[in-house]
Amino acid sequence: MGEQRSDPGEGERAHRPEGGSRALAADVAQAARAIRDGGLVLMPTETVYGLAADAGNARAVAAVYEAKGRPSFNPLIAHVADVAMARRIARFDARAEALAQAFWPGPLTLVLPVADERAVCDLARAGLDTVALRAPRHPLAHALIVAVGGPVVAPSANRSGRPSPTTFADALEETGAAAAAALDGGACRIGLESTVVALLDQARLLRPGAVTREQIEAVIGPLSEAEADAKRSPGRLARHYAPNAPVRLGVTEPVAGEAWLSFGPAGSGPFNLSPTGDLAEAAANLFAYLRAADRTNPMGIAVAPIPDGGLGEAINDRLKRAAGFVG
Ligand code: TXA
Ligand code: MG
Repeated sequence: MGEQRSDPGEGERAHRPEGGSRALAADVAQAARAIRDGGLVLMPTETVYGLAADAGNARAVAAVYEAKGRPSFNPLIAHVADVAMARRIARFDARAEALAQAFWPGPLTLVLPVADERAVCDLARAGLDTVALRAPRHPLAHALIVAVGGPVVAPSANRSGRPSPTTFADALEETGAAAAAALDGGACRIGLESTVVALLDQARLLRPGAVTREQIEAVIGPLSEAEADAKRSPGRLARHYAPNAPVRLGVTEPVAGEAWLSFGPAGSGPFNLSPTGDLAEAAANLFAYLRAADRTNPMGIAVAPIPDGGLGEAINDRLKRAAGFVG
């Protein structure tokens, strides 16, 4: 399988940065105009596709929540062009500076005390006095934010509770109907949402992702293990990233009627997340394979055990949510 990695254009994308940019510059200008006019845009990033809107425009942000069917207490990430834009929106301490320096542009979101309350409207922050910021590395996302000239909110472009789209076709299928413009960036290189770290009193990992716990701790020291209170870590809904079929985890022998997301040399079938046991490859394939498996209308989706270190923490977090285990 793996149609999202082997579609025409793969070779062409391979030697371009971040998986390639198929959309033309004119598309970016058009998309930026749509955003400034209060419209929504499907935006590729290196993690997953986002449904983008002007962060300061409450009506546009409301349309994003509506298109996703998302509970409005779940705040959005504001995407910035660079650290300079981020510093105008939030208060950066030494830890924030160090993490931005180490991992931006890239798949790391920082939750910080808000400085300019209008740059990212109240609705996008779900009324919190904090704001989530990320500078994406994907050239189309970066170009779009630069052309808009300010922060762009973009939740993953799936309808609420569904797996995040990692291909242009999946993004169109999820929320394309609500978008005034769409930028085709091909398949997302990473395939999992960004790591979310709150830097409020203590530093906490709110969502594991492509930047691993170990990488973050190497820069700012140990992350707090204490549970953040619910208001500080919204969005940790149990049934999230879920396909239609029930998901069963840790399965080495699927039963008849189940689609099997296998892993490593012992795996088999059309949905081996990584025949060589490479976690980055498995992360990139995860959501697309969940969707592809789901499309075969199986009795259930069985998933092979995935080792928990490094990127495995983020993969297992998404899998537990897909199975409905995490509260
Ligand atoms: O990779 C990504 O982060 C993708 C791409 C499009 O950039 N975006 C994404 O956005 O995954 P979304 O909205 O699906 O996830 C945002 C996460 C949620 O878990 C939300 O609760 C958390 O960030 N978040 C946002 N603002 C927050 C805040 N002020 N405090 C705590 N968590 C926050
Ligand atoms: Mg999401």
